[in-house]
Amino acid sequence: MLNGSISIENEVTIRNLLAAFDGESNVHAKYQAFAIKADAEGLHGAASLFRAAARAEQIHADNHAQLIRHLGAEATATIHPIHAKSTPDNLNDARVGERYEIDSMYPEFLREAKGHNNTEAMLNFARALDAEKTHARLFSEAIAVLESGWLIAARNYYICGACGYTSETPEAERCPICSLRWEKFEVIR
Ligand SMILES: [Fe+2]
Ligand SMILES: [Fe+2]
Repeated sequence: MLNGSISIENEVTIRNLLAAFDGESNVHAKYQAFAIKADAEGLHGAASLFRAAARAEQIHADNHAQLIRHLGAEATATIHPIHAKSTPDNLNDARVGERYEIDSMYPEFLREAKGHNNTEAMLNFARALDAEKTHARLFSEAIAVLESGWLIAARNYYICGACGYTSETPEAERCPICSLRWEKFEVIR
């Protein structure tokens, strides 16, 4: 929610941050529902991936909320009802959603923040965009191995607590997106 004291330069950026906060909050809730569905279908590896991505989206939402408050506005989101289908459909839904964020939403928000030289918003949007690329890749790979039975066993994913970068293998030293030290990564299964 915007208040009366916000400058014109920040107004569009805050509006975009609010849209990103709302979007990430909804994707977080959606992936949690998809994880429950995947577990119920015996696809525990897919459930692990949805839980990991859900945690990453929560990190993005928290980062956006922090900046929204810092810029003098209130971070509010409306969580929509979630209709979980079968896990193959949910994986495809997730892949399409990630592509939207990568190809359309974040590039547009990033351009606007650059135009107003809002460096903190630029950093938020750029890091989230890069992290969503890791999700799009992981969802695409999960779809490719769906028939082979690879998604049955639960597995670990490694999440950067600062930017939401998500990997199926440990990193050498630091997050490739934001340089957070590897010891600070979260393990989600
Ligand atoms: Fe994502
Ligand atoms: Fe990171």
